[in-house]
Amino acid sequence: MRLDKYICRCTELSRSDAKKRLKQGAVKVNDEVVKDPGHQVYEETHVTLDDRTLSFAAARYIMLYKPQDCICSNVDELYPSVLHLLEIDRAFDLHIAGRLDADTTGLVLITDDGQWSHKITSPKKACHKRYRVQLSRPIREDAAELFAEGVQLQNEKNLTRPATLEVLSEQEVLLTISEGKYHQVKRMFAAIGNRVVGLHREQIGDIELDPELNMGDWRYLTEEEVQSI
Ligand code: URA
Repeated sequence: MRLDKYICRCTELSRSDAKKRLKQGAVKVNDEVVKDPGHQVYEETHVTLDDRTLSFAAARYIMLYKPQDCICSNVDELYPSVLHLLEIDRAFDLHIAGRLDADTTGLVLITDDGQWSHKITSPKKACHKRYRVQLSRPIREDAAELFAEGVQLQNEKNLTRPATLEVLSEQEVLLTISEGKYHQVKRMFAAIGNRVVGLHREQIGDIELDPELNMGDWRYLTEEEVQSI
């Protein structure tokens, strides 16, 4: 791994701060000052910052099947945080890559790798998320067309990005979107005169909710799933 990335992984420093500290000669690899951010290091390499040894903890990547009535936050509010469902050390050092509402169920990705979660949540990366949606009324015939063109949400400057709608039945659809505005799916259906009465996330990028998981269960992602983002 690159030395600047290793430093970010072991400390709170951002990539640009890590590069600054490298330039200042604050970092030693096997007792030699190294200033090159691209210098290759491994988990077992001895790296110091200001003469303090950095300890490398491998990043953690988790998928959770979120139930209703818990929240995607690191602090409890009206409902408890989903992180209580992970019975592992330092669960609250992790963060959630793309939140769901308290009443939404389904796939939540949880990690301590900020650069990885950025690829999921950054609007620039346009990561796809697929939702199964239950509606209060029959879906209108032109809904797929409207979502493909983009709809106007209240208090937003721009139309929504093109989204894909697959109609499963009159009141059940799959919607794939590539952005994550506040209550986006609920607001999109409100914009076309319908109401979401059930919402479940099935997929983020190429990662699908594992059908072996029951609600409230979790597992670590496979290497292939991590790399797919
Ligand atoms: N869109 C919503 O409206 N709610 C969610 O939980 C996720 C997407």
